[in-house]
Amino acid sequence: MKVCVVGTGYVGLVAGTCFAECGNDVIGVDVDQRKLELLREGRSPIYEPGLEELLRRNQKEGRLSFTDDLAEAVRRSLFCFIAVGTPEGSDGSADLSAVLGVATEIGRAMNGYRLIVNKSTVPVGTADRVRQSVAAVTSHPFDVVSNPEFLKEGAAIEDFMKPDRVVIGCDSEKAIELMKELYAPFVRTENPIFEMDNRSAEMTKYAANALLAARISFMNEVANLCERVGADVNLVRRGVGSDRRIGQHFLFPGIGYGGSCFPKDVQAMIHIAEEYGLDSALLRAVDAVNDRQKHVLVHKVKARFGANLRGKAFAVWGLSFKPRTDDMREAPSLTVVEGLLKAGAKVQVHDPEALDEARRTFGERVSYHEINYDALAGAEALLILTEWNEFRRPDFARMKRLLKQPLIFDGRNLYDPLEMQELGFVYHSIGRNTADESSSGAPLAEAGKGR
Ligand SMILES: NC(=O)c1ccc[n+]([C@@H]2O[C@H](COP(=O)([O-])OP(=O)(O)OC[C@H]3O[C@@H](n4cnc5c(N)ncnc54)[C@H](O)[C@@H]3O)[C@@H](O)[C@H]2O)c1
Repeated sequence: MKVCVVGTGYVGLVAGTCFAECGNDVIGVDVDQRKLELLREGRSPIYEPGLEELLRRNQKEGRLSFTDDLAEAVRRSLFCFIAVGTPEGSDGSADLSAVLGVATEIGRAMNGYRLIVNKSTVPVGTADRVRQSVAAVTSHPFDVVSNPEFLKEGAAIEDFMKPDRVVIGCDSEKAIELMKELYAPFVRTENPIFEMDNRSAEMTKYAANALLAARISFMNEVANLCERVGADVNLVRRGVGSDRRIGQHFLFPGIGYGGSCFPKDVQAMIHIAEEYGLDSALLRAVDAVNDRQKHVLVHKVKARFGANLRGKAFAVWGLSFKPRTDDMREAPSLTVVEGLLKAGAKVQVHDPEALDEARRTFGERVSYHEINYDALAGAEALLILTEWNEFRRPDFARMKRLLKQPLIFDGRNLYDPLEMQELGFVYHSIGRNTADESSSGAPLAEAGKGR
């Protein structure tokens, strides 16, 4: 199959590379020359486990190439995927200018039938707008398919190669058959391909992300309540999640969700509801709870040290919005680090992959440390913001020697409060009856029973 993918970001690059891996001829198109240069050298502009190896192999074997010449790529392809960004506009709605601009460019370049496949996350009705944009500039036949992407950054290759499901929204039998042929190698384990109309496919993506975001905000609210009443949210989570109607996934409390999808997709869905005269009270609450949750760790720090942190240094482990990615878009770390800086603190940061990204964000305002322990030297406390695996079993004795005092604010609940107490740490986490909070509820040993 001849495929071009317009937009070589997290989604487009992974999709294009995986299509090539299954034997298709793929051209990645982008306007970002820096990205294209890296890609042509076989280097991935993003950190995503396994991606660079696939990228190099498929380029070497001639199935994958990159260009800024969209017209030529369209002329050489049957499938034209649109995978450009749909960022949040100033009013919360999804900004479709890139998607519609690319649709017009594809229309102008077409020299015969094309399948125009929208992989970007877009509001309901966008397929119709893409159809109009293309029809306005070409008389060649085409179909518009809505094919939302469900990959998770950090496990994107695995998710794309073995998706839980593939959603194909289209009203043309011919297009659906071609899409099924393209996806056949990815669903050999009988995971379903759902055929539906464009609007339902577009809605499926928003509903999935909004539901996941709602689970996180719900558990964060439960966690905050657990702290007040002296319960342990970890025990509550297990008790709740073992109900098969609920399940264990996405019930981990923390310092809020981030990334390029959940925050903007929740906002976009609220906006779509408004456009159609509905008030999405639930999603507005999901969003508000998340905003508040991003501040809880700095509140805990201030409860301990006072509002003015001038002259005090704090170490931060983890900046990416989740582990195994360097993506810091909307990451809770942005709120936490800015909160510390605003209160006058000195901030010493470490992340296994996101330091380059962090330099672009924080500039000279924080100090950067390639080795996690180096960030601890002389700090009043450590704040853990991302649950990277390498933080799960650190050398606590070494940490104690480096920190000014054995004090940890853990936004991801990586450690056992009782073990931390035994190791001599003052340990604050989320939704567990820890450290100073024990005075407002049951004693620590009591709350830890049953672990
Ligand atoms: N990142 C994720 O985990 C994820 C998951 C599922 C869906 N999505 C959705 O997929 C879409 C893309 O997300 P992303 O994270 O890959 O974005 P991204 O910002 O990483 O990548 C977008 C790419 O498109 C390029 N681009 C912009 N305008 C262009 C144009 N006119 N022609 C060619 N290239 C152009 C940009 O240079 C960039 O490389 C969004 O709608 C997003 O919501 C993202």
